[in-house]
Amino acid sequence: MSSDRSGLHVLVTGASSGIGEAIARAFLARGDRVTLAARRVSLLEALAREHSERAFVYGVDLLQWKNADALVDAARSAHGPIDVLVNNAGVQIVAPTDEDDFEAGLALLAVNVAAPMRLTKLVLPEMIARKRGTIVDIASMAAIAPTPGMYYYNASKAALAAASEGLRAEVRPHGVHVVTVYPGPVTSAMESAAREKFEASRSVESIPTGDAATLARMVVRAVDHKRARVIYPRVYGIARHFPNVTRWVVDATTPALKRSRG
Ligand SMILES: NC(=O)c1ccc[n+]([C@@H]2O[C@H](COP(=O)([O-])OP(=O)(O)OC[C@H]3O[C@@H](n4cnc5c(N)ncnc54)[C@H](OP(=O)(O)O)[C@@H]3O)[C@@H](O)[C@H]2O)c1
Repeated sequence: MSSDRSGLHVLVTGASSGIGEAIARAFLARGDRVTLAARRVSLLEALAREHSERAFVYGVDLLQWKNADALVDAARSAHGPIDVLVNNAGVQIVAPTDEDDFEAGLALLAVNVAAPMRLTKLVLPEMIARKRGTIVDIASMAAIAPTPGMYYYNASKAALAAASEGLRAEVRPHGVHVVTVYPGPVTSAMESAAREKFEASRSVESIPTGDAATLARMVVRAVDHKRARVIYPRVYGIARHFPNVTRWVVDATTPALKRSRG
């Protein structure tokens, strides 16, 4: 167990790259204690080396949602009660729905929906008992404006966002806060892999795209100031107020998927 108990204890899933890494870095930079969870332990260890005592590394495959239990136990042993859970780990499938693999779709739902729900269930009783704590759910703009060609991903993010939004009012009287995060395109491995799956198009090349470090700072502020949600890049905030128009635009401008069959 770490002797340093200053700051918050923040558990970040998917801290090995992209948005999760940036969120972990943002909390570490201001002196919080962070549990870094993902499968690629070498990447987590490289990040932890920069922050010695305050970063705890735990290698976990959240495809098996039951692994969440051991993750939370280990995090508590290392850094004490969890103040902030960041449900960030996620996977994406971009493919024609008639061609994709159904088993892979179910695996996506396990990582993107079952694992964050299990983690939330594991930390909530202690947060309610302590009358403090924050759960951050990294959903997606896909929850508001589903993207053609992302059948399982759209469903997973809509499920996580709806669960997250509903939980907020339920746990508020107990002193627990919930932040629902709706990233639009944010530069990362996932985002560039997705772009590759569509036919070349100027509409895709020109869509507003953010960076993970800016989003991470907005997440930290939302935790500190108990904001209900983060939408980034900010221009996509309009989608929450005009979801039907946004869906029409997304449907009309998303280019065709590359197909393996003709
Ligand atoms: N980038 C965007 O444009 C965008 C937009 C909207 C929402 N999001 C959401 O933001 C989150 C982070 O995505 P990103 O863009 O930062 O992509 P990324 O760089 O691919 O990061 C995904 C993270 O999830 C972890 N992960 C994946 N499968 C896992 C598993 N089975 N067990 C444990 N960890 C697993 C990965 O770690 P390991 O591979 O080391 O396990 C990695 O750290 C995701 O939930 C994504 O849906 C991203």
